[in-house]
Amino acid sequence: MEGTSVQRLLVLGSLLCCTTNQARLTVSPSFSQVFKGDFVSLSCEEDDSSAGWTLRRNTTTGQRTQCGAGWGKAAGSSCNISYIFPSDSGVYWCESREGATSNSINLTVSGGPVILQSPVLPVMEGDDVTLLCKTETTPSILSATFYKDGSLIRNESTGHMTIHHVTRSDEGLYKCFIIGHGESPSSWITVTEKPTTTAPPTSTSPPPTTTEATPPPPPCSVNLVHKVAYHLVVFCPYFISTLLMVSLCRHRPTGNDFSVSMVMTQLSQVGQRLDDDCDDVNVFTTEHHF
Ligand SMILES: *[C@@H]1O[C@H](CO)[C@@H](O)[C@H](O)[C@H]1NC(C)=O
Ligand SMILES: *[C@@H]1O[C@H](CO)[C@@H](O)[C@H](O)[C@H]1NC(C)=O
Ligand SMILES: *[C@@H]1O[C@H](CO)[C@@H](O)[C@H](O)[C@H]1NC(C)=O
Repeated sequence: MEGTSVQRLLVLGSLLCCTTNQARLTVSPSFSQVFKGDFVSLSCEEDDSSAGWTLRRNTTTGQRTQCGAGWGKAAGSSCNISYIFPSDSGVYWCESREGATSNSINLTVSGGPVILQSPVLPVMEGDDVTLLCKTETTPSILSATFYKDGSLIRNESTGHMTIHHVTRSDEGLYKCFIIGHGESPSSWITVTEKPTTTAPPTSTSPPPTTTEATPPPPPCSVNLVHKVAYHLVVFCPYFISTLLMVSLCRHRPTGNDFSVSMVMTQLSQVGQRLDDDCDDVNVFTTEHHF
């Protein structure tokens, strides 16, 4: 009985310890579509750089190909594509040496004159989302038409449209069109549920980090998870060794009474000695008062 419960605790402890390895893929610029020839920087924000996170992608020309092997320039867990081609369109993700994967993103490289700048990462329910329809050559504002799942949703003379307080129903496949220039590729916009965090934001401000200058800060929930995971990793060795000690002590043959009485006598001896010491101190202090 006791043995199995200790085993269960051990299994739980090791599960908590081993599921902390994760990474988040970010991309700059953080849009789903770019023009041919643009510079794109991808990076894995990881908990544990020793896990060997690398960037991989699926395109029409190859599956699970790694950054640096025929595409991109790798540096640690980040990857730059200095001149992107339409054939670089595809799905990108980070993968650790053990095969753990991050979130994945869809990147579309337009060979045409128009792109839709839509968020590449999922947007949170309730947030405002701005879509921009732009051409590569004309910097001026052009009137654009926006489509969702094949149907016209809005005509905007400014070339951009904002969806206020997005809901799950705004999820879908978007594209845009500019008269005299053409149509953009289509991109999927994902809307995620607002996380119901019961814990308030931590009052203890974290130490200043070098990532302060980066524009998109990671969501609080991710930070919180990372912190909890980090504390678990630190705490787990102590937790497991304590459990082991407890289980070892319990399975000791009946020498308990003996050891307890030993401890008791030792304690009382220590107490005696402390008393003596106190007397000495008293003598010392009283002597000193004269
Ligand atoms: C990439 O391609 C492989 C092989 O076809 C497939 O198993 C995997 O699910 C793909 N990954 C993503 C993120 O689409
Ligand atoms: C990628 O580009 C960023 C700037 O956008 C730069 O800081 C980084 O060193 C580059 N990495 C590589 C591997 O060239
Ligand atoms: C990528 O695009 C496909 C459809 O083209 C869609 O089903 C999938 O959800 C997209 N993935 C992400 C991470 O946006």
